[in-house]
Amino acid sequence: MSEKERILQVSPIHPFPARMAPSIVWDNLPNYGRPMKILDPMAGSGTSLVIAKALGHRAIGCDTDPLAILLASAWCSGVSSDILLRHANLVLGNAVNLAKKLTLKNAYPTYADNETKQFIDFWFDDKNRIQLTALANSISKISNTSEKNLLWTAFSRMIITKKIGVSLAMDVSHSRPHRKYEIAPVSPFERFLDAVEYLVKKAPFRDIDPKVNPAIVVKGDARALSFKSKSIDMVITSPPYLNALDYIRGHKLSLVWMGYPIKTLRTVRSTNIGVERSLLSYSTQEFAKVIRQTIDLDNLTSRYHGMLIRYLTDMSNVLKECSRVLKDNGQAIFVVGNSTIQGTYINNSEMLISLAEKRGLKLLSKSSRALPESRRYLPPPNSDRAGQQLQNRMREEAILQFVVA
Ligand SMILES: C[S@@+](CC[C@H](N)C(=O)[O-])C[C@H]1O[C@@H](n2cnc3c(N)ncnc32)[C@H](O)[C@@H]1O
Repeated sequence: MSEKERILQVSPIHPFPARMAPSIVWDNLPNYGRPMKILDPMAGSGTSLVIAKALGHRAIGCDTDPLAILLASAWCSGVSSDILLRHANLVLGNAVNLAKKLTLKNAYPTYADNETKQFIDFWFDDKNRIQLTALANSISKISNTSEKNLLWTAFSRMIITKKIGVSLAMDVSHSRPHRKYEIAPVSPFERFLDAVEYLVKKAPFRDIDPKVNPAIVVKGDARALSFKSKSIDMVITSPPYLNALDYIRGHKLSLVWMGYPIKTLRTVRSTNIGVERSLLSYSTQEFAKVIRQTIDLDNLTSRYHGMLIRYLTDMSNVLKECSRVLKDNGQAIFVVGNSTIQGTYINNSEMLISLAEKRGLKLLSKSSRALPESRRYLPPPNSDRAGQQLQNRMREEAILQFVVA
């Protein structure tokens, strides 16, 4: 098997919507024989970081979603399989003992407020609530960060599923959780070790010394990066599309157990890029021309117009930040699909190209590739209104290669 085939075989350790295709990262990363600093400022589950690290580069990522930060960190972790499995057994043993002492009244994550407790009561049955409280408590006592991240990932795998998991919901992994069961089909204590074993099998850097070329994954906003100017060799990222997925909606079911109150997650959600409503305020002036050039505005109501302005402002700031942190001649790769709102086609890639020019990034190349059904993360456009041409445009994603001008 070639090195390329081996690296591209990497498989995800946890569901995550709209993952980047590993081959895009491989095809676009430079291979100059020296390690480079590769940044993904909207890292999601960390595909670009894993491939960059596997190729010997310094992988650096940030995201606003705490679950994305956890998963990207866990996926890039070097960890000893034996130790992880041993500690997973200890964690489970401690949890089983703790569960015997818990009552329904105190079986909630530490410091959970009333709103968070109500959320948990809605999505989890009593028995699983006790088991999850005990497991969460036991995992949080692990001192090694990589191990802890992997054990939390295993914990979350039991919740974020398509059909059956330890919650009462279905379709959590598609960010469309809806309550389906009266009693959860899976028991956390019965499933936990399987979930850890799965991770051990899939973790690409298992049994590699964690101190060797560790990835850096931090909480951060791509519109205001904390990295130094001219410190990054290449940016590679796939931003959220306009009006795309609400990542946090499904992720909340796991994150509440890790100590995140619903209130905090609501704020993360409403300040993220591409969401329908935002808590942030925006000026409408700057992007009028870009909108006129790339979008047929006639059919859009003012609400969606506002959403468009927010998206453009956000992406403009992301591009400005990427341009700032990149070294001279540094490149930025943006992988982006298209959207529709109210049946109006939104050409995200053309919008990005227009914005990038204003932010000091020159387009070097644009290519497109088919977006497999499984990776499309927008609902299909209303087929009556959409027409075949639009349907086809929605089945592609563009790979935009920019260079610092
Ligand atoms: C398309 S996903 C990235 C998927 C990733 N390439 C992967 O392979 O898993 C877009 C990501 O952007 C993140 N995001 C949204 N707004 C952000 C912001 N202001 N700063 C950083 N990340 C943000 C979302 O949380 C989501 O994880």
